[in-house]
This record gives sequence, C-alpha cells and structure tokens, in this order.
Amino acid sequence: MMDKTWKLMFFFSEFFRDMYTFIRHNGYSPLASRNKKLFYKILIETHTVEKGLSLKEPKPLFGKDKINGIIHMLNEYDRTYSSLPLEMALGAFQGYLDLHRTLGLSDDFLFYLDAYVEHLKRDGTSGNGGTKRAAPWLGNGGLDAKAFLESRSSCRMFQPGKLDSRLLTSLVELAQSAPSQCNRQSSRVHVYQDRAVIAQLLELQGGSRGFAHSVDNLFVVTSEVTAWGGAGQRNQLYVDGALFSMGLLLACHANGLGACPLNLAILNTVEKKICSVGGIEASERLIMMIAVGKPLESHFRAARSPRRLTAEILQLHGG
Ligand SMILES: Cc1cc2nc3c(=O)[nH]c(=O)nc-3n(C[C@H](O)[C@H](O)[C@H](O)COP(=O)(O)O)c2cc1C
Repeated sequence: MMDKTWKLMFFFSEFFRDMYTFIRHNGYSPLASRNKKLFYKILIETHTVEKGLSLKEPKPLFGKDKINGIIHMLNEYDRTYSSLPLEMALGAFQGYLDLHRTLGLSDDFLFYLDAYVEHLKRDGTSGNGGTKRAAPWLGNGGLDAKAFLESRSSCRMFQPGKLDSRLLTSLVELAQSAPSQCNRQSSRVHVYQDRAVIAQLLELQGGSRGFAHSVDNLFVVTSEVTAWGGAGQRNQLYVDGALFSMGLLLACHANGLGACPLNLAILNTVEKKICSVGGIEASERLIMMIAVGKPLESHFRAARSPRRLTAEILQLHGG
C-alpha cells in the first residue's frame, strides 16, 4: 500500500517538473531564445497564408494583418539560424500575388507586398512555399503502399556496423515528410554510433535488454519545446514527435533496414541523464529512441505482435 502511495506521489513531482520545463522553454517564455521563437512563429504564421492559398476559393486580400505581422517578424529575424522562414514567406507572398493577378485585382497592399518580395529576392532569398500539386497514392492501385505498411515489423537483431552518414541523412530527410502542426517542424534527431555512448543511453532506456549489444546505430528523436506556446499545446510536441518517429521507422523500412522503437517512458531525472550523455539541449523533450541497422537476416525473426480486431477499436459514428 505504502509502495503504491509513494508511486502516486511521483505524479506530482513529475508533472511539476514537466510544467517547469514547458514554462521555461515554450514559445511565450521570455527566457527562450528570441530568434528561435521568431523562427517558429514565422513558420506558423506563414503557413496560415499557405493554407489560405490552398483553399478552393481563397478570399481576395485575405490575411493582410497577418502578412504585415510576418513582414515585421522577418525584419527582426536573424537568418543565420535558418533561411527557411524567409524562403517560405517569399514563396507564400509570391503565391498570394499570383492569386490576385489571376483575379485581376489591384490594391495598394499588393504593390507594397510586391516591393517587399523584390527586396527579399535582391537579398538572395529564393521562394520555397505557397502551394504545390498533391495527389493520393495510386501506385499499383495503392497495393504497393499497403503491402509496404503491413510488412514493417520491429527488428531486434542487427548486423554489426555503422550506417553511412549519407544514408542516415536520407532517412531523416524522408522522415521530414511527416506532417506537423502548422508545419512548425519541432522534431529533431540525434544519431549515435559510438558503442560506449549507445551502451550508456540504452542502459538508461532499459527496454532493449537482450539486444542492446547489437545496436551500432541509435536515433534519439526529440521535440523542441520552444516551438510550442500556451497551455493548450502542452502535449502537442509528443503528437508531432510520434508522427515524425513513425516516418523515420518507415524510412528505415523503405531502405531495407531493420528498426526498433524504444520507449522513453521515464522519469525526468532519467531524461536529464540521457540528455547529458547524449549532448541534448534542455529545451528539447525526448520522444523515443530508435535502434537501427541492417537486419541480421533478410527475413529476421520478429515478435508476432498480433493486432486487435478492427471492430474492437473502430467506432463508426453517424448516418
Ligand atoms: C513508443 C514505442 C516504444 C516502444 N518501446 C519498446 C522497447 O522499449 N523495447 C522493445 O523491444 N520494443 C519496443 N517497442 C516496440 C513494440 O513492442 C512494437 O512496436 C509492437 O509490439 C508492435 O510490433 P511491430 O513494431 O513489430 O509491428 C516500442 C514501440 C513503440 C511504438
């Protein structure tokens, strides 16, 4: 009984610690890096312009105040952190101007925006935003994609050897196709290939006993707290981080690699130790680890992990 009471007490200290981390590093905190906050804020706000442009019938001159706000933030932003906000804004503004040209509309605001676009271009920025054409996956009637999704299994036996850094980069690049809230892309990936460091990290993780010794490549997926602001968003970094992690698992699968997600259901003290061993900043929260490598055999033995009946988890509402 005492043991359970003690365990329940942990909720208070852990939630308190979570609250401190969120308040200290979130996008509203005066203690968080100003430029990083601007980075995320510009991405988020610019995305709302992109979204407006992607509607079937965008409203003429929509979002003028928003665009003025973005321009104001761009003028304050230091692009050495990342040029994406400028590229994204340029693309969105160009899309906005194109739309109004097609509509045959003229307005002082459009002249002003056009001048700002020219200013960005003169500064060497190239557009990378606005809209694009997208389509549902149809390859082989969708069968390829279905078979691909169904064939992934967690791998717990790896060939020894470090994966090439170009391959690792391409895996992360593929994972970046995951959706994220307002396209803010708060997820980050840390890769470890040093056996001693991996051993320490996996010891702290605790769920890879029995195969930790065969892990020569380890991802730690994190999410940057500064990308999130306000109490309503307190859990969203885990949503985006999990989607990104799934993308990374599928990217491994698509490249003939085996991968195993590894939980980070840990106390804050352990999270801190992992960050210290892994050189991860205090403004990042840990999402999960992923062990990755070439599978020991092309058809490796995997836990069956049977799924529940779909009818048990699917509730069809309505008509
Ligand atoms: C967030 C998360 C954490 C996991 N943690 C572990 C872990 O610590 N150790 C492990 O061996 N497997 C871990 N797994 C793998 C699950 O056991 C596995 O995904 C599940 O049984 C379904 O099997 P499948 O991945 O082969 O489809 C984890 C999976 C997820 C999604």
